[in-house]
Amino acid sequence: MVSKKIKIEKMAGSQRKYAGNSNRFMDNDVPKYRFPEGRMEPRSAYQLIHDELNLDGNPGLNLATFVTTWMEPEADKLILENLHKNFIDHFEYPQVEVIEERIVNIMANLYNIPDKDDFVGTSTIGSSEAIMLGLLAHKWNWKEKRIKAGKPFDRPNIVFGADTHISWDKFARYFDVEPRIIPIAKNRYTITADDVRKSVDENTIAVGVVLGTTFTGEFDPVVEVNNMLIELKKTTGLDIPIHVDAASAGFITPFHEPDFPWDFRLEQVKSINTSGHKYGLVYPGLGWLIFRNEKMLPENLKFYVNYLGDEMPTYTLNFSEGSSMIVAQYYNIIRLGFEGYRSIVEKMMGNAHYLTEKIRKTGYFDVLNDATHIPVVTFKFHEEKNFDLFDLSYKLRERGWIVPAYSLPKNADDTTIMRVVVRENFTADMVDIFANDIDVAVKSLKVKLKKSPERSPRQGHGVS
Ligand SMILES: Cc1ncc(COP(=O)(O)O)c(C=O)c1O
Repeated sequence: MVSKKIKIEKMAGSQRKYAGNSNRFMDNDVPKYRFPEGRMEPRSAYQLIHDELNLDGNPGLNLATFVTTWMEPEADKLILENLHKNFIDHFEYPQVEVIEERIVNIMANLYNIPDKDDFVGTSTIGSSEAIMLGLLAHKWNWKEKRIKAGKPFDRPNIVFGADTHISWDKFARYFDVEPRIIPIAKNRYTITADDVRKSVDENTIAVGVVLGTTFTGEFDPVVEVNNMLIELKKTTGLDIPIHVDAASAGFITPFHEPDFPWDFRLEQVKSINTSGHKYGLVYPGLGWLIFRNEKMLPENLKFYVNYLGDEMPTYTLNFSEGSSMIVAQYYNIIRLGFEGYRSIVEKMMGNAHYLTEKIRKTGYFDVLNDATHIPVVTFKFHEEKNFDLFDLSYKLRERGWIVPAYSLPKNADDTTIMRVVVRENFTADMVDIFANDIDVAVKSLKVKLKKSPERSPRQGHGVS
């Protein structure tokens, strides 16, 4: 968040002349927007912050987020044991680096890397960093090719859909690449291979394909885009790579639909990102980026750090990084194994399908995505009411549920939808309670709005 000067400090201070911010451990108010002059007891500081953070939502009831909110106590223990290790200090903490390398290998194999001796990858803070690094490599590869061919390299573009996460727009702006954004349509919320074909040219550094999209959880047509790009390569010689943003599906599809080809089985897929902290079942922040071949990562983008006399290449945006989540990912992988992940994924899919059924049965909604590929359910009111999904979202908050309502991107922006991300702790029992709460909330909104036509303020939650 970009923070700026907070104006309320003066006001709050003057109102507190007679009611100090004190408790049994402390007598004085604590300035919030400048450094306090003196110290305070640890338990006072703890209590003060702990109490304030009670205002945050309950992560267990947060149906808005893909991000993991619970891990096993043994994982928590490993996280605590490794919290103070800076991952970049490979010399001091060589074993965490070894574990990271193992996971990169595991992920490359999970994504059906064709040559088991020729791939490269890295951990990141999340999918956003992985997307930036993946696309940056494609920009450099494109530039090197253009230089070799004696062609201009000042107008790179990248093709992706309006259904992508904001990190794609960020990449384009931060790294000065023209974004060619394929619009979605009124009743189609993903891209088409035809639209991609119309947007690419010799200056296209890569095409972005998302599994599943942040807005509805649907899949962009990865097979069709791949086939179209192979055809384009045959007919024009243009060899345009696909970067698959599998932030959420990267830990679902290999277990739920192992025969669905979306990964390195497809010829044009040259890099893939996923979020360890989403369905990788690790707390934030952890992401993974895998390149199909070592040569996809240009030598110029690697930086070398000394590691036991050896030179270790790194490819990250941030230098320092925590070690704990990498360790936690490894814990999950060896603790659960393929079968453990598969079983959790199947349970989440089952609960998501059950939720779809319950949502339909309320009679209020049209379901847009019935958890076709990943355990995400999106729906909208099937008829106009004198209240909307923003009102419903606020109403559900009274019970503690955090469910986002938001409007879709341009061309479908008159459609407001609600999205539920089903995670491991959202069991069938919780689905029953939630569906009942929706019913109660809708009925109560109907009654309330009959009595008073005043509307609650409209504001969507952030969608991550
Ligand atoms: C499709 C997609 N890509 C990228 C991201 C960004 O991921 P992260 O939060 O791991 O940086 C998200 C986040 O929800 C996402 O849904």
